[in-house]
Amino acid sequence: MAQVLRIHGGARLEGTVAVGGGKNAAVAIIPAALLADSPSVIENLPDIEDVHVLIQMLRWLGAEVEFIGGVMTIDPRGVDKSNPPYELASKMRASYYLSPVLLGVFGHSAVPMPGGCDIGARPIDQTIKGMTTLGAKVDTLGGVINASADRLYGADIFLDMPSVGATVNSMLTAVSAEGYTQIHNAAKEPHIVDLANFLSAMGASVRGAGTDVIRIRGGRHLHGTNYAIIPDQIETGTLMIAAAATGGDVTITGAIPSHMESLSAKLLEMGVSVYCEDDLIRVRSGGSFRSVNVKTQGYPGFPTDLQQPLSTLLTVARGTSIVTETIFESRFRFMDELRRMGASIRVIETTAIITGVDQLVGARVNATDLRAGAAMVVAGLMASGVTDIGGVDYILRGYEKIDQKLNSLGAQIELIDV
Ligand code: EPU
Repeated sequence: MAQVLRIHGGARLEGTVAVGGGKNAAVAIIPAALLADSPSVIENLPDIEDVHVLIQMLRWLGAEVEFIGGVMTIDPRGVDKSNPPYELASKMRASYYLSPVLLGVFGHSAVPMPGGCDIGARPIDQTIKGMTTLGAKVDTLGGVINASADRLYGADIFLDMPSVGATVNSMLTAVSAEGYTQIHNAAKEPHIVDLANFLSAMGASVRGAGTDVIRIRGGRHLHGTNYAIIPDQIETGTLMIAAAATGGDVTITGAIPSHMESLSAKLLEMGVSVYCEDDLIRVRSGGSFRSVNVKTQGYPGFPTDLQQPLSTLLTVARGTSIVTETIFESRFRFMDELRRMGASIRVIETTAIITGVDQLVGARVNATDLRAGAAMVVAGLMASGVTDIGGVDYILRGYEKIDQKLNSLGAQIELIDV
């Protein structure tokens, strides 16, 4: 039996909601805990499918893992395998973060090529470059990342683009490499800084995370630690957009407003009020919006992961907006679903020209990937009538209790079997 998220649109969101822990920080930090020689306790983890898949993978490798109330204890001392199974690894993108971790622990690893959302080509050439620059031999024969090294040594890695995955994998290799590594043209996303802080708390020497060059003095003995991960930047942004889309008044707690500046700036440009204080973000909107142009970029630019929800809001903005997607070419596929709801959109290669309409109308639509799913939820909230969203698994992979959170603000969303 399939499930859909059914949304009765038109409800104004109002109230206070807490944001959960960062998915993309969690999926990097959990594998990193295997580099320690003692248990780690990681707090503020989101209770989402990707985290559960990682738990299964860690247990399969021999770790003891407990996960209760958002707090995970990972005891890596029993890890005795370096080849996680295809059935688990292929379920998510971040499984390949285990490749440098297990390489560091055992001197070899065999990790199936990663899965994850189908949002366009997701090559791993920069990860391979990072690992080989530090002395690993890497091939991908048989759909498996086979890595081995007698010795890893520090060196300068020059990434062709600031890839999040390649930056994470280069950092995770560098902490096991003797000597000094510099990762040039590194990604600067908040979850990169969070991973650096976690590694430092384990005893690693990591400097410069959040800038273009990350410097790591590797080969240190790493121990378990207690750590709380950052709030989810994309969940925060999705809630901000949902609040604006319904002409609502929503306060998001437990957030880091500085992570949201590129979105806040766009919302202000559209005529939405955004007020920040400490870990609070209050979003208020009268429900009418000016059109804006948006171009996705690495942090601190506008995140590709918020392009789809924001584009959805732009379908009802006055005038014409131009959205340029520079990171993942297939992240416009969801525009077909928006058209089913009455949106007026023309896509030319990596540019979407969105002409605002008065209102979207509820329809049966599909989540084509995780963030497209979030966009469909925003669309359903602001549409008239009923919207049924298929592809629910995508949404639940990355958003903790999204239906319950939005319902606590006055939305009418239910998960139903069809
Ligand atoms: N790229 C290459 N070669 C590489 C790596 C990347 O050409 O070796 C290109 C990609 O094709 C893409 C660009 O570089 O055009 C950026 O890709 P990046 O490596 O930064 O993305 P990723 O690590 O695969 C992470 C997030 C994504 C998020 C992107 C961009 C995780 C687990 N995933 O993916 O999150 O969209 O960074 O910020 O951190 C999501 O959460 O829904 C999601 C897809």
